[in-house]
Amino acid sequence: MNRKWVVIAGVAGALVLGTAGVSLSVAQEKHESKLEKLMEKVNKQNSALQKGTRNAAFYKKAQKDLAKHAKEMVKLAKAAKPFKESLEKAKVANPQKVWDDYSDAFIKSSEELEQLLSKGDAPYEKAKAAFGVVKKSCADCHKDFRVEDNF
Ligand code: HEC
Repeated sequence: MNRKWVVIAGVAGALVLGTAGVSLSVAQEKHESKLEKLMEKVNKQNSALQKGTRNAAFYKKAQKDLAKHAKEMVKLAKAAKPFKESLEKAKVANPQKVWDDYSDAFIKSSEELEQLLSKGDAPYEKAKAAFGVVKKSCADCHKDFRVEDNF
């Protein structure tokens, strides 16, 4: 073979390998979705809030930190809303609208919790109730959109 053709064959081979590499990483991405990663962060904030509102004594100690966790939750709730990857798995009519409604409920309840906690003197019962609204927003959305085998 003429040297020029050997070089071209080599380049074509590298291109084929390159493409295979790309589709492999797409497959891995699907396995652990980005929403799933984000939900893991949501879950961390949720656990901290859960622990800090377990009883009045825990609450008194954790109060300052809880406002920070609520603030982080607002950010994550807003970041989750644009995700579309779960829409086609949902068993509801008009999944985009339902997703947006659940997302808005998650954002709004987190914002209300943050506002309450950032005052620094919110009574325990009020904080617990406000966090309860956030947790309900998790459950509502999961019921329709978290259609996986692992829960
Ligand atoms: C707007 C919809 C929506 C809201 C609100 C929501 N989630 Fe999720 N969550 C999902 C979906 C969809 C999945 C499945 C993601 C996947 O596996 O690709 C999920 C998955 C999870 C997971 C599993 C992650 C993993 O590693 O498999 C946890 C934990 C979780 N959510 C916690 C929460 C908590 C806590 C809240 C509320 C504070 C919340 N979620 C609110 C839609 C939502």
